[in-house]
Amino acid sequence: MNELYIGTNTKMYKNRAETVEYIRALRKEFPTLLPGLTLFVIPSFTSLESAQRELFESPILLGAQNMCWEEAGAYTGEISPRMLKEAGVGLVEIGHCERRRIFGETDEQENRKVLCALRNRFKALLCIGETLEQKERGESEEVLASQLEKGLAGVSWEQAGELMIAYEPVWAIGEKGMRPQAGYVSRRHEGIRKTLRGLFGRAGDAIPVLYGGSVDARNAPELIRLPGVDGLFVGRSAWEAVSFAQMIREVYDCHVKCTVGNK
Ligand code: PGA
Repeated sequence: MNELYIGTNTKMYKNRAETVEYIRALRKEFPTLLPGLTLFVIPSFTSLESAQRELFESPILLGAQNMCWEEAGAYTGEISPRMLKEAGVGLVEIGHCERRRIFGETDEQENRKVLCALRNRFKALLCIGETLEQKERGESEEVLASQLEKGLAGVSWEQAGELMIAYEPVWAIGEKGMRPQAGYVSRRHEGIRKTLRGLFGRAGDAIPVLYGGSVDARNAPELIRLPGVDGLFVGRSAWEAVSFAQMIREVYDCHVKCTVGNK
């Protein structure tokens, strides 16, 4: 069975106490992880150390929502890889559309962060996605290819093993997000794989590509059955541990069935 990837970013919602409670509840649901499942949680910076304590000896991977591209320096307000390492972080999320849209991050900056994350032996989760306008202009394919080519410039094929991609259409994210059509998601994942193969050859085939944006209990099973979707990156629908765990179990069952049937 191919590895299944499921994760959540709690954005700027849960504080430290809420994060601890959430992780405790999630661990109770999964005292051991299902075989072949990579599960990750990306809480706020101020919750990281407490989250790490709560995750002691747990296979659940801890992530950070952002990171500076320099190891140290005069970067007021930024967080360095060294600081994230000591907080127990194993994965860094880079280029979420809220970082790009609200804080003006560019592909070039995401690229520096990806390179810095890999240099510091983190897993780098690069988020990409087209806006509604780009989708309506029929530019999705080239926008995604360009975000990948720029965001992953200079990454070697040896480093590609530590990469993960989250395809998150900007128009599908958040409360006002539109639910994605399966066929559309499938075509985008196909295009992403083609670009990754172009960049890294066969190593590009092994890079997990997750889908994110208005994933919930209703559409998760359908999404995970799509060819090329290696996992799900979930926002709102993941923030209650018991129902998230239920969604994970369902998605896992679908994934097992369809990889046995060669999706
Ligand atoms: P959503 O968020 O699932 O609440 O749409 C997804 C994300 O922002 O990654």
